[in-house]
Formats: sequence, C-alpha cells, structure tokens
Amino acid sequence: MLKKIFRQFDLLPLDTSPDMSGLLAEQYIVRVAQKHIQYDPAQIQTLEYLQQILEWLVANDSGNRPFLSKPCQSLYIFGDVGRGKSMLMALFYDACPISQKRRVHFNTFMQEVHAFIHSWQKQDQADAISVLAKNIRGSVRLLCFDEFHVTDIADAMILGRLFSKLFELDLVVVITSNRHPNDLYQGGLLREQFLFFVKVLQNAANIVELSAHQDYRLNFQATQQRTYFYPSANLGQSGDGATQEATWQYFQQLTGGTLSQPGSITVLGREIQLTALHKDILFSSFDELCGQALGSADYLAIANRFNIVIIAAIPCLTAEKRNEAKRFMTLIDVLYEHTIKLVCSAQVPAEALYTEGDGAFEFRRTVSRLIEMQSDNYCQRSESMRSSKPM
Ligand SMILES: Nc1ncnc2c1ncn2[C@@H]1O[C@H](COP(=O)(O)OP(=O)(O)OP(=O)(O)O)[C@@H](O)[C@H]1O
Ligand SMILES: [Mg+2]
Repeated sequence: MLKKIFRQFDLLPLDTSPDMSGLLAEQYIVRVAQKHIQYDPAQIQTLEYLQQILEWLVANDSGNRPFLSKPCQSLYIFGDVGRGKSMLMALFYDACPISQKRRVHFNTFMQEVHAFIHSWQKQDQADAISVLAKNIRGSVRLLCFDEFHVTDIADAMILGRLFSKLFELDLVVVITSNRHPNDLYQGGLLREQFLFFVKVLQNAANIVELSAHQDYRLNFQATQQRTYFYPSANLGQSGDGATQEATWQYFQQLTGGTLSQPGSITVLGREIQLTALHKDILFSSFDELCGQALGSADYLAIANRFNIVIIAAIPCLTAEKRNEAKRFMTLIDVLYEHTIKLVCSAQVPAEALYTEGDGAFEFRRTVSRLIEMQSDNYCQRSESMRSSKPM
C-alpha cells in the first residue's frame, strides 16, 4: 500500500525487476508433477523463507533498492539427514538470477579462509578477517553454505568475527546444517568463545527447522550391481576376505583386467600412497584414506582426480576410532558432493559402522549418504558426470 502511494508521487523509482513471486513453490510443484519428488508440506514452508530472500535480492540487485526496505534476514535451515535441505537450497540458488552469488561446501570455504589468514603476514589476525570479509562481500551478495558443522577449534575461533563482519557488510547468507545453532560445536574446546558466533547468527538469520517426515535417501532403489559389500548378508558367512575380494573383482571388471599400478597423489607437498590406480579409477583401503592424518584438502584432490573410488576393508568403528570415523565422514561428504561413484567393502552394514562415540550423531549423515550412493539414481548421475568430463 505504502509502496503504491509513494509511487503515485514519484517517490519510488519504477520497479523494473522481474516478478519472482511464488516462483520457488511453482518450480517445486512442477517437480512434484513430473514425479521427480514427493510433495512435502514442510519443504513448502521452508521454501517460503527462501522465496522472501529471493525477492529481496532481485529487488536490490536491479538497483531499485526498495524504499523503506529492511535489511534482509539471512537463513539457517537445520534438520535431520536426507530431509531435502540441500535440494531446497539448490532450487533457490539456481532460481536466483543475480550474478554475485556463490554456493560452496563449508569445508572448502573454511580452507580458503585459513589459507587467506595464513598468507596474511601483516599486523594481526583481526585485520586479516576484516580484509577477507570485505573481499568476500566485494565479489558476492549471496553466499550459500551446505552442511555447516563445526568440529574444529581453528574454525570455531574464526567464525564469530568473520560472520559479524560479513553481516555488517550486508551479505546474505543461507546455511544448511544438521544441528540447531545452539547445538553446534558441543563439547568443543573454548566453546564459550564460539557462542559469540551463535549470537551473531541468531541476530542476523532466521533459524528454521525443516522437519520433513522422512529421510528421502532411504527410498532410493539400490542399483542392480551391488556397490557396498559386507560379509553376512551379501556373501554368506565367508568373512572380510571375501568382501575385499569382491571389491577387487569390481575393480578388475572396470579396468578390463588391465595391469594396474600402485600409485600416489601429492597434495600440498605430501604424498598419499594408494593401492592401485587405473585412469580415473582408484582402488584404495580404509587404512590408506582414513587411518592417517588426511583431511578435506586431500579428499578434494581425490575427488578431483578420480571418478570412481573403491574403498576396501572399512572396519566396524569403535568409540576409540573417532578420528578415523571423522575422516571417513569428511571423505564421504566430499565424494558425495562431487557425485563420485563409490564402491566399498566393509565389516558391517552402513548403519552399524559407527554407532557410539564422539561424532556418532553427525555420522548418521554419512550413513544416509552411503545408502543413497548405492542407488540407481546416484550411480546414473555419477556415470553421466563421468562421461561428460574430459578423460
Ligand atoms: N520431497 C522429496 N521427494 C523425493 N526425494 C527427495 C525429496 N526431498 C529430497 N529428496 C531427495 O533426497 C535426497 C536427500 O536430500 P538432500 O540431500 O537435500 O537432504 P539434506 O537434508 O540436505 O540431507 P543432509 O542432512 O544429509 O545433508 C536427495 O537425493 C534429494 O533429491
Ligand atoms: Mg545436505
């Protein structure tokens, strides 16, 4: 109403921005009608928040900063695994017609942040964070983070200062996470200092739970050719040796029995030994990939170098193996994010890999992903990504 009155008296420039109203719900319904997804009222509710951000961004991007417009609230979507958080974020992101936008996995973003601060040899860290925030804001208006989680003290100490600067600079942030902000970095060192970040976030963002009623990953049909081998159910009681043999045969089949070479890749000057490589196919073991101090930079290098990754001999992880479990989580996150085909042999089914100990809650995401990665749908997507890449 006010807008109309102001426009009558030429107090508001003519709105030339495209009409975006209802766009996301419309696109969602089209996908339901095409049977790509099932209708879920909780997802529609969450889309409304994304829709508001979309409209705000479009109105601001056109140069017609709406008269009387308030700053845009950012959005933090949390919820259990497989509820569709990333799917909704992708729908929003793809529909958002502004050019200054970026969607990035949280691990990749933090790596960039640390690299920047590390390279900052002048004055103190606070300056580095201010400059970094300005740089980020200089190139983007909208930043989307998928799978936000905080387990690392170095991240925990930086986030508060970085995000308070980013929000001051009017950056719009959309985050997905499995945890409510109050439950992030539970039990972490110096958690009191991290709580500053939670406060900053709660001021600048709507915190919304996506409580869709199921983990949609569990609906996927398993692919005909099995990709996750474990002893009792798949191979009789013949034990771990047989499951490892099954993954090796898989590798042989993929490589046409060609003589494969043990190999290595070098990341940040460090060499990682790998059992066997053939073109874009890697055969490795849990020990090689998660038994030593590797991290997301190493896993990213693997995801960039290979299209098919075979991991043999994944053990059932006890609470003492929390570091190995955490690395395995990071590895699966990265491989899933890059739609890499995964073939595994394990001692137990995915649901039983790591059930108690530090990070067992987060590990449920890994289980959900491992299940989706065995599906026809996922394998087909990874196959088509593979065929579109130059070999
Ligand atoms: N309404 C739906 N109907 C059918 N499939 C869906 C629906 N919502 C999501 N999916 C599918 O379920 C899978 C999991 O969704 P998504 O990755 O968005 O979950 P998430 O909430 O981000 O999970 P995580 O917490 O593990 O990151 C995806 O393959 C997605 O396409
Ligand atoms: Mg997700």
